[in-house]
Amino acid sequence: MVVLGIESTAHTASVGIVDERAEVLGLASDMYRPALGGIHPREAANHHVEVLPGLVEQALERARVRPSEVDAVAFSQGPGLGPCLRAGATVARVLSLAWKRPLVPVNHCVAHVEIARVLSGLDDPLLLYASGGNTQVIAYGRGRYRVLGETLDIGVGNFLDKLWIGLGGTFPGGPALEAEARTGTELHALPYSVHGMDVAFSGMLTATLALHAKGTPRPDLAYSVETTAYAMLTEITERALAHRGRNSVVLGGGVACNERLRGMVRAMVEGRGGTMFAPPRSLCVDNGAMIAWTGHLAHRAGVSVDVPDSAVLPRQRTDLVSTPWRAG
Ligand code: ATP
Ligand code: FE2
Repeated sequence: MVVLGIESTAHTASVGIVDERAEVLGLASDMYRPALGGIHPREAANHHVEVLPGLVEQALERARVRPSEVDAVAFSQGPGLGPCLRAGATVARVLSLAWKRPLVPVNHCVAHVEIARVLSGLDDPLLLYASGGNTQVIAYGRGRYRVLGETLDIGVGNFLDKLWIGLGGTFPGGPALEAEARTGTELHALPYSVHGMDVAFSGMLTATLALHAKGTPRPDLAYSVETTAYAMLTEITERALAHRGRNSVVLGGGVACNERLRGMVRAMVEGRGGTMFAPPRSLCVDNGAMIAWTGHLAHRAGVSVDVPDSAVLPRQRTDLVSTPWRAG
């Protein structure tokens, strides 16, 4: 069985084609990069409308799959930026109607989790989902993915992006800060905001920009920010493991590309005798393959929607999505 998945929640338009063993047969992505500042939702949506038809063709070509061989069309229903979500949903509806195939709605956050889980081979790991808009520690329990801890203000990726723009860079900030931090040597004290299993980043954003205004070298700021922010994420992940009596952790989301974060979580998990897994970078960032794979799981469990009922849900939460494929 082959599912085509469409991702368009924020900056990235992507189409993935995945089979029933989670093999990625074809993936084609295109990221909207604003010349200045953060993401403008309407401009990002216009970008997605322009590139999505070509990405569908590219993904099919790469997968060597004909439209008639696609069994279902999945799309990111939420959470995300309304105009961007609608761009992807519209393309998915058109394909579903034209190809006469079921339309399967997928939650973007659950998709980050499911692709990481299947690739890890771990049945029931704890998940650290660290991306632009979201930062959550997640465990499965009684029919849902439960959020044990999360950011109280902005997602860690949005924090890194805002900070990098404030330091004179352009979006996305996470990868650029990672490169900059490699030459940093001096660790500056920054607000370390852990509240139980929750975290917050806005204090660190203000404090780092204040140090920048005083002339602190950018590599030292990047190094200090990575050290502090990723230590916070590692701490809440460890607390959640201890509470749940678990050992293994899977990482997902764009910030899970980061080597420092991977290293810190791995050291903590291995210290507890557990296993840490992070997917390849192309499947950590937003991608259509994770939507296609979660579409598979949902479709097999009987989930599909009619076009009139397929409205996007910009504020849909991880812990409000039912996951019938995990029942029993
Ligand atoms: P979501 O909708 O899941 O909250 P998102 O739409 O922002 O997330 P993702 O592609 O999952 O998209 O994550 C993008 C984020 O990942 C950006 O904030 C980017 O700066 C960050 N990122 C990407 N690579 C790295 C890296 N190497 N180190 C740190 N952050 C990174
Ligand atoms: Fe994402």
